[in-house]
Amino acid sequence: MEVKPNTIKALEKMTYGLYILTTKRGKEINGMIASWVSQVSFSPPLVMAVIRRNRYSHKMVKESGVFALNVLGKDNSGLVSKFKLPTSEEKFKGIRLETKTTGAPIIGETIAYMDCKLVNSIDTGDHTIFIGEIVDADTLKDGIPMTSLDYGKVYIGKS
Ligand SMILES: Cc1cc2nc3c(=O)[nH]c(=O)nc-3n(C[C@H](O)[C@H](O)[C@H](O)COP(=O)(O)O)c2cc1C
Repeated sequence: MEVKPNTIKALEKMTYGLYILTTKRGKEINGMIASWVSQVSFSPPLVMAVIRRNRYSHKMVKESGVFALNVLGKDNSGLVSKFKLPTSEEKFKGIRLETKTTGAPIIGETIAYMDCKLVNSIDTGDHTIFIGEIVDADTLKDGIPMTSLDYGKVYIGKS
């Protein structure tokens, strides 16, 4: 479906936080930059991440039922570049990883993490809303979260 140029321009005025969404399926791990992320319930604590259906991470979250949100800080631009690399090996090379309850990778250099078990997924257009219950979370260091304003561009879901 053709999206009107004015619609695209308006969508580019939205603001988001920036995260590395990680997941694990068997021995395989992966991570991707994600910005369509929000809290959706306080008790139980639920968050959602919206992933386009053609992402490899989409398949992994669907099949494994786990993901973690690693909250990027303003000084994590190195991680943003790394997670644009094509393979999981390249993305995670040299990065200090931990695991908590679900086994999804927790990235030590970020400012906070939320380890989640998938409780619901809703197909929505060309993306899927994955809703996860936070089973473990913590702050890793002081820091100001990175937003789409720091990144300079807005993910509008185009490709
Ligand atoms: C700033 C930024 C934000 C992004 N946000 C999302 C997002 O919320 N959902 C999504 O599906 N893709 C998003 N992407 C695109 C994915 O990070 C990208 O397609 C990634 O290569 C997918 O990795 P995978 O195929 O290994 O899972 C974003 C990319 C950037 C640069």
